[in-house]
Amino acid sequence: MNTRVIKLDPLNIDIQKLSVAAEALKLGKIVAFPTETVYGLGANALNSAAVEQIFKAKGRPSDNPLIVHIADKDKVKELTESIPEKAAVLMDKLWPGPLTLVMKKSSVIPQIITAGLETVAVRMPEHPVARELIRLAGIPVAAPSANVSGKPSTTTAQHVLDDLDGKIEMVVDAGSSRVGLESTVLDVTVEPPVLLRPGGVTPGQIEKYIGPIDIDKTILGKINSENIPKSPGMKYTHYSPKAHVVIVKGEDLKKQTEKILELADSNKKEGKKVGVCATLQTQEAYRGYETISVGDRNKPETIAASLFSILREFDDRGVDIILAESVDDHEVGLAIMNRMVKAAGYDIVYA
Ligand code: TXA
Ligand code: MG
Repeated sequence: MNTRVIKLDPLNIDIQKLSVAAEALKLGKIVAFPTETVYGLGANALNSAAVEQIFKAKGRPSDNPLIVHIADKDKVKELTESIPEKAAVLMDKLWPGPLTLVMKKSSVIPQIITAGLETVAVRMPEHPVARELIRLAGIPVAAPSANVSGKPSTTTAQHVLDDLDGKIEMVVDAGSSRVGLESTVLDVTVEPPVLLRPGGVTPGQIEKYIGPIDIDKTILGKINSENIPKSPGMKYTHYSPKAHVVIVKGEDLKKQTEKILELADSNKKEGKKVGVCATLQTQEAYRGYETISVGDRNKPETIAASLFSILREFDDRGVDIILAESVDDHEVGLAIMNRMVKAAGYDIVYA
């Protein structure tokens, strides 16, 4: 299959061009498209055969359910059995946006979407191209991140092609994703609601509207027989570049930097090519190593926005080991550290 690229200006959407992608979705094909979080790999959520192709193209385990994307809040009624009060508040305040709500599913949702669960995850993206595509197609669109399973999610059309060229019908290219990390997943079928995956919307933003929420223990902690994540997708190795990632933690940034320099030196002596995932504040300290700044510590959104593309960049540079600084794990930092510890397979060194 030749993967077709449809390039669009998100600020001035060419509806005719986008209609080609919408038609493909209607015909049961799989199409990658931009969202504000990451690129998604979409299929008609009501067509099991179409959805099956997503699992095939990504190499995704079949027990990992998909998020259903909508362009219109009214659609939630059709997809769910009931809408909890708190869900209605969040839909009103935070949709469209990077927040996915897990609710009791209705009978229109095929088994393949939910991997047999009684719940369905629903999200209304904020990206104008995503919304217009779903609106034109006139169907709910199932879409996981448009990467090969296990690799970092894709935030540009080029990343999508790097992973899936020849395996998918087309990719709609509208530039880089703004947020850079996937949506926040919140289970609103329980009381208090539980954060299953931290993402573009922070716990503080949610609690402002609905009060305290619980945070799934596996978000930063290791997964074992006592700690099983409620979101099936969170149990898999994730976001892994080819290089081995090691996270250095420590209250004191200076100590983190010293520890990274020490590890960089010993790995270099072993003949390894060392990459350092630094920040604007520290990048100068690591001269002599492949160093990339992920962003500004004072603006964690900048770190979220570039994290996945930088993990991919380190692979392109052929490093063997990535030594990464850590950030405070609250608000946006919680999502950043969740993706980092998973990329590192929980290999954390304390400075
Ligand atoms: O930002 C995003 O959410 C992106 C863009 C494309 O919208 N999509 C995305 O999808 O990240 P995916 O498939 O990579 O991650 C979906 C997550 C997985 O961890 C999955 O296990 C969880 O949502 N999930 C889906 N349905 C669920 C359900 N019914 N109950 C619990 N978790 C669910
Ligand atoms: Mg994913």
